[in-house]
Amino acid sequence: MSAPGPIPELRLPQEHLLGIQGLSPADISTILDLSDHYVELNRQADKKTATLRGRTQINLFFEPSTRTQSSFELAGKRLGADVVNMSVKSSSIKKGETLLDTAMTLNAMHPDLLVVRHGSSGAVNLLAQKVNCSVINAGDGRHEHPTQALLDALTIRRRKGRIEGLKVAICGDVAHSRVARSNILLLNTMGAEVRVVAPPTLTPPGIERMGVTVHHNMKDGLKDVDIVMMLRLQLERMQGAFIPSTREFYHMFGLDYDKLSVAQPDALIMHPGPMNRGVEIDSAVADDIHRSAILEQVEMGVAVRMAVLDLLTRNLSDAETAGVA
Ligand code: NCD
Repeated sequence: MSAPGPIPELRLPQEHLLGIQGLSPADISTILDLSDHYVELNRQADKKTATLRGRTQINLFFEPSTRTQSSFELAGKRLGADVVNMSVKSSSIKKGETLLDTAMTLNAMHPDLLVVRHGSSGAVNLLAQKVNCSVINAGDGRHEHPTQALLDALTIRRRKGRIEGLKVAICGDVAHSRVARSNILLLNTMGAEVRVVAPPTLTPPGIERMGVTVHHNMKDGLKDVDIVMMLRLQLERMQGAFIPSTREFYHMFGLDYDKLSVAQPDALIMHPGPMNRGVEIDSAVADDIHRSAILEQVEMGVAVRMAVLDLLTRNLSDAETAGVA
């Protein structure tokens, strides 16, 4: 494979990436354009660059994570940064230290980039106000998960050639999903038509105000869509019974070939992972190499995170050159 061309000279105005909210269509395109470059780099034998040499990236995860944390770690390492992973199990949080004390402690070690996942909506924004490095939200409560929406957008743009005008159904546990919120914001910003498909108990009240149409029946919601995005049933965020049983949920809302038959014949199937096979998605559909983009999403995740780390660091470098940092 030929080497990717020179790194595009792109800029992002933001100091932090806290959410999709506040990003313009041009900002989103900038991140996706640079991500395309990193997809090519990641497919080469030598995936390493010196873009972030000398920089320190701390991944601070207060919630479990497989793909997001490992993806941010690989992204930082491929760009040449020193990457430290802090997970709650091994940190002083277990000993009662507050979020802000932990953040200030880490801040004193002069990181350049802090990647944070936290169970409370808004926690990452709060933290960003207290530290003097770039903060990236890796998922805060039910609020936002911007890099997930960006990697989904990259997957869609590469497969379909565009985002504008596509019909996208986001299905399942919308109420507890930061992935759904970030995707709704991004897809609307880029001109897609977004529907949510969920049982009434898992539909956030007032979600229409985000510019989506709501369906409570899969075959209504999936009619003619280009993209089917499935969400995990987030049992850990549920207090009380939101569904009669997972078996019943699968029957009504689980994606199988029958429900999928009303979508466009080339509709793309997506899922952020981790999947509950046989709960929100049928195993055969998830593994269908002609329809499912689920593993491609994981690949795109590393490239998108490299692009975000790179762009935020360009701003740090600009500020340092100007002598304001
Ligand atoms: C998502 C998350 O953590 O919000 N997972 C992920 O980042 N790939 C979705 C989920 O946990 O269901």
